[in-house]
Amino acid sequence: MTARTDARVPRHLAIVMDGNGRWAKQRLRPRTFGHHAGQKAVREAVEFCLRRGIASLTLFAFSSENWQRPPTEVSALMELFLKAIDREVDELHGNGVRIRFVGDLDAFAPELHARMRGAMERTSGNTALNLNVAVNYGGRWDIARAARLAAEAASRGEFGFDEIDEQRLHGYTCLADQPPLDLFIRTGGETRVSNFLLWQIAYAELYFTDTLWPDVDQDRLAEALDDYARRERRYGRTGEQVAG
Ligand code: FPP
Repeated sequence: MTARTDARVPRHLAIVMDGNGRWAKQRLRPRTFGHHAGQKAVREAVEFCLRRGIASLTLFAFSSENWQRPPTEVSALMELFLKAIDREVDELHGNGVRIRFVGDLDAFAPELHARMRGAMERTSGNTALNLNVAVNYGGRWDIARAARLAAEAASRGEFGFDEIDEQRLHGYTCLADQPPLDLFIRTGGETRVSNFLLWQIAYAELYFTDTLWPDVDQDRLAEALDDYARRERRYGRTGEQVAG
């Protein structure tokens, strides 16, 4: 299915997939059990976006701050990412999904980094859904990197430093080539942004749910989209102006 233009359906959906650890704890299992269960919910979310004709899905899989977790959990997550790439890429590619890993990828082990690059190259021509997996990502990192890239271009003489405005800077942020972020979902009951997509969130609708990420299925995502469809997006204008 190709991307829709119905304004009540988000074109770009981002999710902070929180609650894996608590889901596992409720079952008296280690946290990594929750991360494995979380993978199933990732599959549900991808399927849901393909069905609904959503153009971009951006998932927060590993933040710049997640390196501070216990080393065993960090290595279990790395192992999980590696296996997920090996196992899922064929099917995602078959479904026309373009995979992009966004974040500071240099920090990952060479093997994982190479797999990430391979998955991105292999699926780069696909158009059914942009699946952006944020790993070692931070919103402040994204903005600082964009500022650095813009300054470098200015010092090469591509444009003047005084021409670095919002639009120009936006062009250097990670997801600049994709539709603006419409809907930001966080599962797991916390009502924080946690340094995810700070630039892109400016006019996004925010949706928080207590549901733990492994319990999220397509019905739960449909509820979030129903809620989004009822929102009035004013972008600074009055309600009357929007209606008129
Ligand atoms: C947050 O829950 C979750 C993560 C830091 C990892 C997310 C990873 C997955 C869902 C695995 C699959 C992902 C891909 C893209 C293959 P938490 O551990 O902070 O949960 P808690 O708040 O209950 O402790």
